[in-house]
Amino acid sequence: MLEQLHSLEDQALDELRGMSTTAAVEKWHVAYLGRKGALTLFLRSVGQLPPQERPAAGLEANRIKTGLERAYIEKVEALHAQAAAGRLTTEQVDVTLPGRPVGPGHLHVITQTLRDIYSIFSAMGFQVLETPEVETDENNFQLLNIPPYHPARDMWSTFHTTRDGVLLRTHTSPGQIRAMRMYYPQPIRVILPGKCYRYEAVTSRHESMFYQVEGLAVGHDVTMGDLKGVLTEFARLMFGAERQVRFRCSYFPFTEPSAEVDMDCIVCGGKGCRLCKGTGWLEILGSGMVHPQVLRNGGYDPAKYTGFAFGMGPERIAMLKYGIDDMRLFYANDLRFLHQFA
Ligand code: PHE
Repeated sequence: MLEQLHSLEDQALDELRGMSTTAAVEKWHVAYLGRKGALTLFLRSVGQLPPQERPAAGLEANRIKTGLERAYIEKVEALHAQAAAGRLTTEQVDVTLPGRPVGPGHLHVITQTLRDIYSIFSAMGFQVLETPEVETDENNFQLLNIPPYHPARDMWSTFHTTRDGVLLRTHTSPGQIRAMRMYYPQPIRVILPGKCYRYEAVTSRHESMFYQVEGLAVGHDVTMGDLKGVLTEFARLMFGAERQVRFRCSYFPFTEPSAEVDMDCIVCGGKGCRLCKGTGWLEILGSGMVHPQVLRNGGYDPAKYTGFAFGMGPERIAMLKYGIDDMRLFYANDLRFLHQFA
């Protein structure tokens, strides 16, 4: 009887020793110590033994039961410890590795270009004035001599809002009206930078959102000569002292006369190349003398005041300055592009 019990004990301990998974160990526990386990069944049958064998058999069976329970617990703990040790090596973190560098970041190329423009004009006495991107039809068009249904509206494909008469400005020129109404009757020298929006197909030369920098000077003796001097100075400070500029007759409803400003091509110097499409000239901005009616709309009497205005696209300026051939690159947020201007 006791022999049988001891071989059961040996067999159980042998099996346990060879196990390597907790699942197997749990199965083992059920087989020997569970409700229908081998040892449990033996203990239950002790009562059927001859009376003189019962005490020794019961005592021994209980001792074995306690031993197997302890062996079970030790085995489970050993397996857990083994698994933890394994994880420590596979999930090891080398705390001595240097950290990943966090770059300091830098200004966007258009922000840099805007700041270059600001510093050139502030040296000539212009102040920076920001005006709203969401504008009235009145400021964006009507007060600039562009009445409703006027064909000149075709020059600016417009994003309208759900509010009648409210739109996303198509250019920074409505800032002229705001500046004049703010400053009257003082003389004005401001640049008006900011975002503009046009309902146009996005191409390498057009974005539906882009920047403009408007310039406005109003005073008692502002002349076309001032306009030419200021813009020639700008082209030379921005693109090099050797730059030639020309003023080409143009049309804008809010300036009279109007001129587009070209500078000699920065690639070929005027000989003609791909960038300037063989003309030798690059257009950089639109300008003109403020139309008398626009002065009046701003509160300034055109008999006593004159003014000039201009508008340029910083994206175009940056494309020329850095040799960028696709406007979409500016706002695609590709860091490989942007980091070149760190
Ligand atoms: N607002 C004009 C445009 O967007 C540019 C411009 C500004 C022309 C000021 C003349 C004077 O095309």
